[in-house]
Amino acid sequence: MTHGKPHGKLIGASLGPGDPELITRRAWAVLQSGARWLYPVKKAEENSYALSIVERGGIAVPQDAEELVFPMTRDAEILTKAWARAATRTVELLAEGRDLVFLVEGDASTFATFGHLARVVRELAPEVEVETIPGVSSFAAAAAASGITLAEEDETLAVIPAAYGVDIIDQLLDEFDTLVLLKVKPLVDEVIELLEHRDLLATTCFIEKVGAPDERVVRDVASLRGEKVSYLSLMLVQNPKRVRGELRRGCRKRKEAREQERTPA
Ligand SMILES: C[S@@+](CC[C@H](N)C(=O)[O-])C[C@H]1O[C@@H](n2cnc3c(N)ncnc32)[C@H](O)[C@@H]1O
Repeated sequence: MTHGKPHGKLIGASLGPGDPELITRRAWAVLQSGARWLYPVKKAEENSYALSIVERGGIAVPQDAEELVFPMTRDAEILTKAWARAATRTVELLAEGRDLVFLVEGDASTFATFGHLARVVRELAPEVEVETIPGVSSFAAAAAASGITLAEEDETLAVIPAAYGVDIIDQLLDEFDTLVLLKVKPLVDEVIELLEHRDLLATTCFIEKVGAPDERVVRDVASLRGEKVSYLSLMLVQNPKRVRGELRRGCRKRKEAREQERTPA
């Protein structure tokens, strides 16, 4: 694969979670650099959320922009075939020598298709250069939209797919001051039940399609019982009752020690 023209570079451009104002200047520049666009869809010719962010930002979609299909299934055979097809097509296009920009919703290093695509592409063509443009994650934007602080000082923060189930979430609530539950859609009712049991409904917020025109911030999380929510939704759960251990070395301790040093005995 190395003979002839050098490969183009594969660029993962994070676009933020929905508001085009949150596209970084670097991603914005790459989108207009002449690199060919690739964007993910769940089914052939279906709408692409990542593409819709750029369209709302006012950049015209180039004629030769191409979709790559990443089906939403747990069927290993279907997934393997789809991934192989997407990676092979990406390498084919890179071999033409032009840079490719893969549009990523949210941040490209956070639960994103791009990481996996880049890995498979490198397996097929190790000489391909990969660049990742970081961006605003869904949960950073959700925290801002809901006025929630994810972590302060020595607080602990975990970001997990809710699919681990409520038993694990229950355990993590003892370890972390804030939990970000991604991909919460299929577990909303179970999570509500757990939060009710732990008396944490008042310190939980549900955020759907943050940054998109139909963004929704729901503070009365119990009202979501039985509702079919969007896949693009998450919960921010704060546990103010968490019992914390002693800090061995932390900013607070060092600050206290400094203050003691400054105070004459
Ligand atoms: C495959 S992960 C993608 C994460 C993304 N790369 C990021 O940086 O946030 C998909 C999950 O992220 C969350 N998510 C992504 N975009 C979102 C949005 N605009 N609003 C709320 N949650 C979102 C949802 O929990 C969704 O199920």
